[in-house]
Amino acid sequence: METFSLQAKNYQMNDGFRYVEDHLYCEEISVCDLLNSKVSENNITSPVYVYSKRQMETNINEYKTAIKKTGRVIQLNYSVKANMNPAILKIMKDHGLSLTLVSGLELQLALELGFEPNTIVLNGNGKLDWEVDLACRSGVLVNVDSMFNLRQTIRVCQMRGYVAQVLLRINPDINPGVHSYVSTGHHTSKFGIPSEELYDVLEMASASENIRVIGLHCHIGSTIRDAEKFRHSTQTLVDLYRELRDRFPAMNILNLGGGLGIPYKEQIAVPEEIKQRINYECDQCREPEKVKLYQDLLNHRITLRSFFNMLHSYPDGEKLAMKLRQHLPTEVLVSSPEDLVNIVSNILPSDTTAILEPGRSLVGNSAIFLSRVLGTKFTKTKNYIVLDGSMTEVIRPCLYGAYHHIDLAEPNHVNASFQSPFLWDVVGPVCESSDFLGKDRQFVTPNEGCCMAVFDTGAYCSSMSSNYNMRVRPAELLVDGNKVNVIRKCETLENLMHCYGDWNTETS
Ligand code: LLP
Repeated sequence: METFSLQAKNYQMNDGFRYVEDHLYCEEISVCDLLNSKVSENNITSPVYVYSKRQMETNINEYKTAIKKTGRVIQLNYSVKANMNPAILKIMKDHGLSLTLVSGLELQLALELGFEPNTIVLNGNGKLDWEVDLACRSGVLVNVDSMFNLRQTIRVCQMRGYVAQVLLRINPDINPGVHSYVSTGHHTSKFGIPSEELYDVLEMASASENIRVIGLHCHIGSTIRDAEKFRHSTQTLVDLYRELRDRFPAMNILNLGGGLGIPYKEQIAVPEEIKQRINYECDQCREPEKVKLYQDLLNHRITLRSFFNMLHSYPDGEKLAMKLRQHLPTEVLVSSPEDLVNIVSNILPSDTTAILEPGRSLVGNSAIFLSRVLGTKFTKTKNYIVLDGSMTEVIRPCLYGAYHHIDLAEPNHVNASFQSPFLWDVVGPVCESSDFLGKDRQFVTPNEGCCMAVFDTGAYCSSMSSNYNMRVRPAELLVDGNKVNVIRKCETLENLMHCYGDWNTETS
């Protein structure tokens, strides 16, 4: 039977992932080898999350370098909810980051790992008494979210004789233009002190001996593509800070939240208009280096993001980049941590310490979710690729209609009759029609057993995974150069059942 392969993929996706002759590599390791026990002795089976330490460090350094350049005091807190794997938390700690938390167990974990309590922030619109107690006892900063949360904090502190270090979480009534499920700073959101309650909260906080207001906080939402949205929220906090400074003399922290998006769609094909424009520039250009850059983009050897980053270093690159950007679909380009840091640092008063608490932009693009094709199915209206991975490991497409790039992770030699690409829905085996990872994606027919990668799964994938359908949560691997560590083992039946007591002894 005639077999063939399409033009092989050879390009860098980011610092962690690249294609070499159609094989997807995480740093120095071919990801499919991870499943073939060639690299790991731990008998790893699909599906599995694969993380790149290098890409995580690139993300951390992007923030740190940008902060350093501003000369301002900006503390970086990693938002643990994005991914609570202790191995990841240790990387954050090694790089001097602190943490923002949303539960008492996250707090216990952070304290166990030795994070400095007075830099940790405990957030939450509904805290339990023991969580408030532990936070105040440990000297952690508590984000007060409402009047009832303030009353609760005072009650707990009075009982124990503590003084709580408090940031007031303001609802600034800003619409960040993201999916309503991840929009948190609008007046319709359940988060933050609404303007209607603010006066009473300030009165009660200033009257209580158990409350020390040391700052303000706001978090307007997540997956925000345009850093300009943070200008408004930062300005709102700064204005309020100036108004309240005399009333709360200990106040000097402005926590600006997290929420910067990542370019989930940056791997999509280069839009036709950009191609034409670049072809034109290529014809005009006499600098070989620049011509190579144009050709690399056209031949899909570098991503749009790397292209723009490199273009900036050419004398007239800035101008051309601006022109080209106008032709890009808005969802392709996302502001960088540097854009965010520059915008907020220009607004911050010099006598304040700022906190940024990103989650997604620190870990999102540092992982892939690797699955195998169980089979393909053709119907009158749809074609399906059924993977062994599902919505229980990557719930974002089903929950928010979120886009995650998907591609084959190894060469796929297909029968000639299947050579032309079809449109596929990429789905899992879960017993739900909402179980999809991507819709209307173009691939040639993948072979059964072929490895496919869902990209950008470092944030809100493992941490939002579930055991629905009694599926076990997969293993997680951390690649560091040519080394691989199992940072989470795959669950077993025993793990799933251990809270059910004597489930396997016969009843009489
Ligand atoms: N700070 C606060 C107070 C937050 O509520 C959040 C996220 C963050 C920081 C971190 O936001 P990030 O930089 O990661 O966007 N499950 C959704 C995301 C929910 C985010 C909730 N809050 C998703 O998968 O997109």
